[in-house]
Amino acid sequence: MRTIKSDYMHWAKFKRPVRYALTGSEVPHFRMDLLAINIADLDLDGASHPRYLPLRKAIASRYGVSPEQLVAADGTSMANFLAMAALISPGDQVLVEWPTYELLLGAASFLGADIKRFERKAADGFRLDPAIVEAATSDATRMIILTNLHNPSSALAELEDLRAIGELARRSGARVLVDEVYLDSAVPPRPSAAHLGPPFVCTNSLTKVYGLSGLRCGWILAEPELAERMWRLNDLFGVNQAHPAERLACLAFENIDRVVGDGPAMLARNRGLWNEFASARDDLESLPASHGITAFPRWSGGDTERLDARLRERYDASIVPGRWFEMPDHFRVGFGLPTGEFEEALARLGAALDDLK
Ligand SMILES: Cc1ncc(COP(=O)(O)O)c(C=O)c1O
Repeated sequence: MRTIKSDYMHWAKFKRPVRYALTGSEVPHFRMDLLAINIADLDLDGASHPRYLPLRKAIASRYGVSPEQLVAADGTSMANFLAMAALISPGDQVLVEWPTYELLLGAASFLGADIKRFERKAADGFRLDPAIVEAATSDATRMIILTNLHNPSSALAELEDLRAIGELARRSGARVLVDEVYLDSAVPPRPSAAHLGPPFVCTNSLTKVYGLSGLRCGWILAEPELAERMWRLNDLFGVNQAHPAERLACLAFENIDRVVGDGPAMLARNRGLWNEFASARDDLESLPASHGITAFPRWSGGDTERLDARLRERYDASIVPGRWFEMPDHFRVGFGLPTGEFEEALARLGAALDDLK
């Protein structure tokens, strides 16, 4: 049956808030009042109607593409939906990684895709394995959908593996949608798969790594002809973005080093703390975290709903239970808390794990 809602997003929005949330997957919010902004900078002159060029140029220059390859969208969320809506017709075969971010499945299902899955094996560090993708691909495959960095595990897809998947797609006339919302937290930074040629359609935003989810500044990188189709399709949806948000996004790009700030150093510290924590526990299986904002360990205690419930009841803390990623004995932790809070959250996680031993 066609999906017409996201249970995960509903949970993420309305779960009871806790003080030490390891559920988040973005760096702390960047405060726009740290930049010199005048209210007159935000005027509503409607310049966004013809696809606001200053923002397109700012994004295109940061990601090394031409403005013709770029489509603006409300966050990576709408970017993913728009990319799929432009490319998927009801009944099309679409391959989606497993585990994955639930909304990618939901959007493809909503559009009537015939969804097939390919596994990113936990035992293989959730690696993107082109041989596994190839085994799942047929002439009927129209789209291959994946995340890089991988949500939930943060596994990084190697460029040669992406290239091999691009080749598979080319052979069957399919596209590869790569959600790159976490890619800018790779260490060292990696280029977008958009540089690997026309099969690739890549999405990203100022949300996770930049702490600016509120601006809803997202985008799609695609070959120019396809990008044009997506712009035209978006006329049916949002027409254009809120212009003050576009102006603020331009300011953010002009000051991108300040916006990024201490984020990478904080994430590196928190990953180090996480690695120490996880390697000292015999009830967790987790590869050392070297990239990204999340990890997805396996817990020997079984269904991690139980762990989340204990954290919430007793420790004012939370994790994302693995059921949201179709792997109930795993759970996702996010590294985006300020380090002091992250340490305290880990201490609480340790206490809850000990309780349930
Ligand atoms: C893989 C993935 N894509 C997209 C999003 C949503 O990003 P945005 O806030 O830019 O819409 C998330 C947020 O959790 C995500 O994990």
